[in-house]
Amino acid sequence: MSKQNLEKILPLKFPGKVAKGWKNSVKGWYVENATSGLYTLDIEHIADSVVKQHNDPNSEENVASKYRKDLCPHKCPFCFNEENEVYSQEKTYSKGKKKLNQMMTLKDTMKVIDQAIDIARSEGHEFNSVKFLGPGELTINPQLFDVIEEYQKRNIHLGIFTKGAVLGRDEFAQKYHGMTAKELTDKLASYENISLIFSFQSFDDTKQDSMVTTKEGDVLQGIQNYSEIREKAIENLLNSEFYKDGITDRICMINAPIMPENIDESFEIYKFFTERGTQVIMTPSMVSGKGCVQVQKQDEEFNNKLVDLYARIYAYNVEKGIQTEEQIEREGIASYVGAAPCNQASIGLYVRANGLVQMCPGRFDEETIFANVQDKPLKEIWDQSPNKRRGFDDPHNLINNRCPAKDGRAFTEGFYEKVMQRYKELTKK
Ligand SMILES: C[S@@+](CC[C@H](N)C(=O)[O-])C[C@H]1O[C@@H](n2cnc3c(N)ncnc32)[C@H](O)[C@@H]1O
Ligand code: SF4
Repeated sequence: MSKQNLEKILPLKFPGKVAKGWKNSVKGWYVENATSGLYTLDIEHIADSVVKQHNDPNSEENVASKYRKDLCPHKCPFCFNEENEVYSQEKTYSKGKKKLNQMMTLKDTMKVIDQAIDIARSEGHEFNSVKFLGPGELTINPQLFDVIEEYQKRNIHLGIFTKGAVLGRDEFAQKYHGMTAKELTDKLASYENISLIFSFQSFDDTKQDSMVTTKEGDVLQGIQNYSEIREKAIENLLNSEFYKDGITDRICMINAPIMPENIDESFEIYKFFTERGTQVIMTPSMVSGKGCVQVQKQDEEFNNKLVDLYARIYAYNVEKGIQTEEQIEREGIASYVGAAPCNQASIGLYVRANGLVQMCPGRFDEETIFANVQDKPLKEIWDQSPNKRRGFDDPHNLINNRCPAKDGRAFTEGFYEKVMQRYKELTKK
């Protein structure tokens, strides 16, 4: 039902070519013309009330135990974010000894942001943007607008990854923010430093609903009938200041992870939203959290389909006027297909709620966890990081660093070359 209903909600804006200058890159997604330096962070925020409970050694509740109660109303079976090691109350530090795994308050996190601003200034450029990656939903954090205003004060763009349930259901918006879903959407839209990276995995309601819930014993965990709520949220977004004349550069749909269950729909999802003036980004699974299991499900058939999907999207971009052939040659194939490439692993870092600093959200292992910003200044971590080196050693990484997390894993050997070759075959005809 979703597709027919969304066709009624979202007007067709680009039946032919897209408007001149229309780019597939939502505000805050990509830093253009970056030089070697720190421009952006992926970030996590937890409400101070939850942090306080977690940091109290006598409390039985902590972020891990409260994840489903206070941080996320969904239960996506593939969630890369829910990493116990990051959110449990204790951590092992040496020879089995345990200590408190301290979470950061909003004030602590903003001090890290201020360190990032100082680093950027010392490098001779601005610090541009942050993206909220979890845990859970920032939209249900009672400090949502305090967080936004902290970034607004600093002139920093905040991209919020969200499933948007509170934007489509009055009952949720009332519960968390004391207003209707429409009022909440309008309030969010009134902050110009905000973009939403809105999850969209399937047009098929049953399939989509199963992608945000998990059966535990006989009980289905996570908000049910989500697709219906999502439709209302998209309608509220379209009728807000996020869209101007039916077109937006502050909302994009994210079809991630691309999985065997939804890969056959991915091209249609890309086309559907692009034709309706809404950008789309998509990529296969991260190799972190529950995403690791997801990657193991990628068989040869899936990997071939992925090459074909990417190639078709690049051919479509050329046909629609979204990209030129020269641009695709120059930039190379992006890990988020058809969209502005990723340079996050060369000009940014991922700072987690407990201060862990990682390469990016895509991997969680010895090689990609760098240090803890509660133990070491961010400048020291950045200066010694492979991310900084990546941009310095090869300036093309500042345009497109492919995906140091998924390459050789969710993207099999030779993936980008195969896509480029297949795309050229498609555009030759
Ligand atoms: C971890 S979520 C956090 C923000 C919010 N709760 C949400 O779901 O949008 C950030 C984004 O990652 C996507 N995601 C979750 N698990 C993933 C995985 N294993 N691989 C790729 N993307 C994933 C989600 O669908 C969402 O678009
Ligand atoms: S992907 Fe987002 S919505 Fe789903 S469980 Fe993870 S944090 Fe929650």
